[in-house]
Amino acid sequence: MSTFTIDSGTSRATPSPVPGKRVTVPAIRARKNGGSTTEPLVMLTAYTMRMAQLLDPHCDILLVGDSLGQVIYGLPSTLPVTLDMMCAHGAAVVRGSFHSLVVVDMPFGSYESSPEQAFASASRVMAETGCSAVKLEGGVAMAGSIAFLGARGIPVMGHVGLTPQAVNALGGYGARGKSQAEHAKILDDAKAVAQAGAFACVVEGVLEPLADAATASLDIPVIGIGASAKCDGQVLVTEDMLGLFERTPRFVKRYADLATEIGEAAAAYASEVRGRNFPTVEQTYQPKGA
Ligand code: KIV
Repeated sequence: MSTFTIDSGTSRATPSPVPGKRVTVPAIRARKNGGSTTEPLVMLTAYTMRMAQLLDPHCDILLVGDSLGQVIYGLPSTLPVTLDMMCAHGAAVVRGSFHSLVVVDMPFGSYESSPEQAFASASRVMAETGCSAVKLEGGVAMAGSIAFLGARGIPVMGHVGLTPQAVNALGGYGARGKSQAEHAKILDDAKAVAQAGAFACVVEGVLEPLADAATASLDIPVIGIGASAKCDGQVLVTEDMLGLFERTPRFVKRYADLATEIGEAAAAYASEVRGRNFPTVEQTYQPKGA
């Protein structure tokens, strides 16, 4: 059932808020109980107010991912994404939603050097966006910062496996955990994130048995992307699953073909404009009595 209504009396950008309805961090954490999750968590990325409005009724979590670097800004990777970008898009997504938990990604370079740096950046993100939690990449190396933030009121979602901010160190975006050593390291990373107090953890781009092992051994929800159907939840980049790009990675399923639909709509508009068939009398303002 949709809990979302648009207040058309004011502005299409202003949804009627329903105070107290937003999913909370403890509620997400509690979805995994006794090591299992009855109903998998639904998470999608959102970067804009309107997309947040459309996705909000269907999701448990909206992730303002730093994937916006590529998807919105046409950047070659997530590395150039800034705190300013994350704050602007995070605030838009919070404004466009009132049901889903909104999690905002910490961009590359804004948290890795120390727990104090992580707190300064994360507290800015929380204050400027109104989001409920942040996500950061890294396992054992980030455990201290995750605990530091948690102890200061900032809930953290972890992210291990294929961590796109480490693309240069990893050598590409291929699936991780193929060797025994890498399998063990990623599992250790996931456990460290959970032990440090993260309320959930994204496991990205790993062999399915590794995703299953992480899901079985962590007491917090494991949210998979390119991972396993047995994870406690799933996340995709919304533009990927809507078919807005020609090329989609293997782990993406396209639930729509919006690139084709947008192309057809733009072509129809262009043809009508060039043929002077748009606007018609229906879209123009006529003098009274005409
Ligand atoms: O930035 C992002 O969109 C992400 C998801 C792919 C998990 O981190």
